[in-house]
Amino acid sequence: MPKATQHELRLAGRMSRLGNESAFEVLQRARALEGQGKHIIHLEIGEPDFETPQNIVQAGIEALQKGWTHYGPAVGYPELRQTIAHEVARTRRVPVSANEVVVVPGGKPIMFYTLLALADVGDEVIYPNPGFPIYESMIRYVNARPVPVPLREEKDFSFDVNELASLINHKTKLIILNSPQNPTGGVLTKQDIHDIADVIGDRNIMVLSDEIYSRLVFEGEHHSIMSEPDLKDRTIMLDGFSKTYAMTGWRMGYGVMRSDLAEHISLLITNSTSCTSSFTQIAGIEALRGDQSSVDKMRSEFKRRRDAFVAGLNQIKGFSCRMPHGAFYAFPNITATGWKSKPLADVLLDQAGVASLSGASFGEYGEGYLRFSVANSMENLMQALERIEQWTKTNL
Ligand SMILES: Cc1ncc(COP(=O)(O)O)c(C=O)c1O
Repeated sequence: MPKATQHELRLAGRMSRLGNESAFEVLQRARALEGQGKHIIHLEIGEPDFETPQNIVQAGIEALQKGWTHYGPAVGYPELRQTIAHEVARTRRVPVSANEVVVVPGGKPIMFYTLLALADVGDEVIYPNPGFPIYESMIRYVNARPVPVPLREEKDFSFDVNELASLINHKTKLIILNSPQNPTGGVLTKQDIHDIADVIGDRNIMVLSDEIYSRLVFEGEHHSIMSEPDLKDRTIMLDGFSKTYAMTGWRMGYGVMRSDLAEHISLLITNSTSCTSSFTQIAGIEALRGDQSSVDKMRSEFKRRRDAFVAGLNQIKGFSCRMPHGAFYAFPNITATGWKSKPLADVLLDQAGVASLSGASFGEYGEGYLRFSVANSMENLMQALERIEQWTKTNL
């Protein structure tokens, strides 16, 4: 990095433990190649390629015009919290009250605040690997000990409950679950959730359940650990608006947790962002209460693309891809190409003009895989397959 001044930058030690999200790095590299006149197909970034539905945009515009432009309560407006409580109670089939809901700018802050609030130095935090890179980054940042649970392809990228059981000990403070999962598209079944709950038993361990893709399940239903008897009070459920309503840039998500923990998170919010933007929250009420047909349309379009893209990947030499049952990613095994993940992702970007992510950027157990987002048009997805196939024919 270039020096900004002649004075040495004396960062806090903890900054060296903070990780990054490679999707943003690859996007930057891809943009640089585009700057040189190359044509790139973007399958690296994890956001819906659809516009935010019109009814939600309209509600946001009206909220701005009506003056929803000031500070609001740290944990969100009561009406939105109530609406979220109602929605979560309906979808997870458990009673939820508004004071158990915390509204924040995106799903990510719930990870940040949960780890700040719960994990002490030396506490162990179990998390999925490969998994969303921010989990490990934040665990390290707070100086807790990251304990990865490998997600294995032969188990359809679900949790191996026996492995989970072997990792739990008296230092375990928190277990992070994510279903549907980024990057594998794996989905925890009702039985998986039940078995995980059994393994936790009545230990005083909290669970951060990242359910940001809960409305993007293609086969079967979404199941949450918060629905398990006795686990609701030990669960912090993360969900939000980014993926479900194509609202990534609005920055709004929420956590559902016991009300005493919500009060501590409220204090963290007061010490950082103050609150989530007010007009955004009014649009959020419309998102949850209004017409849901756009959510269904997006889901069926992602499913159509998933089917075609996974079938296409399986025709390419060296690639084999399980069917992901949720989210909008394909996670093919590329070991038969003889390449490691990162060099293959790099070379496909540079030589084939297809941007993807190395599985290893999601943790060591992601080595041997690439992640492609199907949040792009069918035409682009088909063109990406052609380019990759062409590259493999020339180079493998
Ligand atoms: C598993 C997972 N959780 C949370 C998030 C963050 O969502 P948000 O953009 O609402 O902060 C993402 C975004 O990619 C994700 O993949």
